Amino acid sequence: MARPPVITVDGPSGTGKGTLCSLISRWLGWNLLDSGALYRILALLAHRNGIPVAEAAQVAGLVRDILPDVRFISAEGDEPVTVILDGADVGALIRREECGSAASSLAAHGTVREALLAWQRSFQRPPGLVADGRDMGTVVFPDAELKVFLTANPRERAKRRYKQLKEKGIYVSFDNLVESIAERDRRDTQRILSPLKPADGAIEIDTSTSGRDDVFGQVAEIIRKRFDLSAVHNIM
Ligand code: DC
Repeated sequence: MARPPVITVDGPSGTGKGTLCSLISRWLGWNLLDSGALYRILALLAHRNGIPVAEAAQVAGLVRDILPDVRFISAEGDEPVTVILDGADVGALIRREECGSAASSLAAHGTVREALLAWQRSFQRPPGLVADGRDMGTVVFPDAELKVFLTANPRERAKRRYKQLKEKGIYVSFDNLVESIAERDRRDTQRILSPLKPADGAIEIDTSTSGRDDVFGQVAEIIRKRFDLSAVHNIM
C-alpha cells in the first residue's frame, strides 16, 4: 500500500505553525502531529516518574516502557491544538513554561530524539499527516510531499506571545519575553542534533505581516496544485 502523504511545517515558536497545521488538518481531514507536544509530554512523564531531565537515557526509556496513547485534535480559530494523553486533556499542563524549558533541555539529547523518532513516525497514518515542529522536514519526514518553513521577526513573535499570555491573565515584561524568545532560537538553531533550519526544497513564508487566513490561503493554493484532492469533501 502507498504510504500516506505528509505535509511538514517547521519554524521557530510564535510563527503561527500550530494554527496553520490545525487549519490544514481540518480542511484535508488528515491526522495532526504536534511534535513539540511530544517533547513536552516526555518532560511531564519524567516529572511524574521523578526522573531528572539530565538523566536523558532514563527519560528516553520512558518512551519504550510506557508508550502513552497520545492524540491531537485540531483547534477552532486561534485556539491551541487539544492534546490528549491516555484519555486526559493535558494541553494546559504541558504548555506551562516549566514544561517548555524542560522539553527544550531534553530535546538536545540524542537518546531522547532517537526514542521519539519512531513515536513521531507512527502518526503517519491514512489518509495523511500534517506535522508541526522544528525538524519535521529535515529529519523525521525527509520524504514529505510538501515542506513549509515559517519565519517571523522576533519582535512580532514576542508581541503574539505577549497577547496570548495576557489573554490568560499572565503579565510578563515584554523585553524579557523578546530576550527569552531570542535565547530559545539560539538554542534550537545552534544545537548539534537536528538544528532548526529549513529543509531542502521547503517553501519559506514570512508571517510577520500576514494574518492567519492569508498564510493558510497561500499554503492551500500550493496544496491544491500539488495533491489530488478528489477525496477531500470539506473544501473550504
Ligand atoms: O514547539 P514547542 O514550543 O512546543 O516545543 C517545545 C520544545 O521542544 C522546543 O523548545 C524544542 C523542542 N522541539 C524539538 O527539538 N523538535 C521538534 N520537532 C519540536 C520541538
